[in-house]
Order: sequence, then C-alpha cells, then structure tokens
Amino acid sequence: MTRTRPMQPLVAGNWKMNPTARSDALMLARAAAATAARHQAVTTVICPPTVFLAEVAAEVGPSRLAVGAQTMAAEERGAFTGETSPLMLAGLAGFVIVGHSERRANDGETDEGVAAKVASAVAHGIRPIAAIGERIEERRAGRTEEVVDRQLHAAVSRLEAIHGSGLVIAYEPVWAIGSGEAASPADAQVVAARIRELLGTVDADAAPQVPILYGGSVTGDNARAFFDCPDIDGALVGGGSLDAASFEAIVAAAEAAAAHRRTPSAEATRS
Ligand code: PGA
Repeated sequence: MTRTRPMQPLVAGNWKMNPTARSDALMLARAAAATAARHQAVTTVICPPTVFLAEVAAEVGPSRLAVGAQTMAAEERGAFTGETSPLMLAGLAGFVIVGHSERRANDGETDEGVAAKVASAVAHGIRPIAAIGERIEERRAGRTEEVVDRQLHAAVSRLEAIHGSGLVIAYEPVWAIGSGEAASPADAQVVAARIRELLGTVDADAAPQVPILYGGSVTGDNARAFFDCPDIDGALVGGGSLDAASFEAIVAAAEAAAAHRRTPSAEATRS
C-alpha cells in the first residue's frame, strides 16, 4: 500500500537510568545536538533521566535536537510521590515516552494508565511516544496481534482525535529490548502495518501520518533495514543511544533511508 510518509523520520534515544553522572549526561546531550544538526532531515529526540531534563534542555538550547521525558503522571498536581506533572514537563520536554515495557513490568503501568497519560500529554502539548509490544511467551503463543491490538486501542482510547495529537507509536517487542536480538525487519513491518491499519479504523486520514517506530536492540548496523520498511518511520533506541557514535549512525541511517525514498526511482517503484 502506498502512503504519504510523515514529514520526517523520527529517532528517539531512551537513556533509561543512564548515565549516572550529570557531566556525562551533558556531554551525551551535546553530542546528540551535534548529530541532530548534521542530520536535519531527521527529528532527533533524547529522553534523559528526569533529574537531568532541565539542565539538558538548557544545555542544548534552541537546537535541532528535541528533548523528551521517559514517563510522566497523568495528573497535574497532588499527592503523587515521586511523579512528574505534565505541567512541570511542558516547555521542557517536547515528547514523553508512555507505557514503556519496563514501566509496565516494574511499575505497574496498566493499559488504563497509559490511556490517561497519552491523553494528558496531548492536552499539555507534549507528544506522547506510546510504547507497545508483546512478551516472548505471548509471541510464542501466537498472541502478538491480540496483545498489540489491545495495547494500541487502550493507548488511543482517551484521545478525542488522532489528527493533531502529535501521537507517536513505538512498537517494541519486549524480548528484543536490551537483548541484542532485534526482531527481523520483516516481522516488525508486519506488526507496524497492523498498527497502522488499526489506527486507520480510528482515524483514516491521520493514520498514514502517525510515526511508527521500531524499538528493541537497534544498532547502527541493523537500523537501515528497519527504516526501509514501508510502515516503520524511525526508532526508539535504548543502549544504542548511550554511545554518541552509535546514536549518530542510527540517525544517519534514518536520513539515508528517507533520502533514498525521495529519489524519483524510489518513488516510481513505490507507486
Ligand atoms: P534497546 O532498548 O535499544 O536497548 O533494546 C530499547 C528501549 O527500551 O526503548
């Protein structure tokens, strides 16, 4: 199926609970800002730990690099020990990862919670990167589609519209995260196409424009094969975003894939 791609590929680095030293975080952020400046055809995002967000945002200043948070509360204020309000993030973070599998597994994040956070992020002008994906036992049981359908439906269930929401979906098979064993691009494409089809049942006009990222052991070596898939518009990168050179290689691969698609011959073969 031919579709109009989102304006730009999107590569987001999820630093998780790394690096632990402020100086290392600022150094990594400066390197990512330089990467973003060198590859302006890619929307490049880094998601540092919350404690470094303000300093990282100040360090990169107004640049091509966007800054995101790794999670946030749906609520604006109140008795939510340890949480971060969307009001605190607004103006600081342009993106927020919601529903990462580590938070689903370790912090009791539920489909309902993800739905509330996605809606809250959108309401506060922060683009949600909603992470969904099956666990290994679910894949082995042939339940990938069912799990992805359920998580996706939940993630968008409290949005009034997908159009204009800034929604990003990250398909991250849980077994591929941090394992060094990425999904095959063909398998990831099958799920990404399914995600797009489902988005189309909610909003047919907006679905082609929603960036769908692949995540799970993306490296500078394997990234291009994902970016060449018709329904994969970028990557959510964990370990590979902690090394400046490997993050640069992934962003460069996204730019090269997009440039390849823009050549007349690539257009001709796609239509
Ligand atoms: P990984 O993590 O790239 O280290 O596999 C991806 C993620 O958790 O977002």
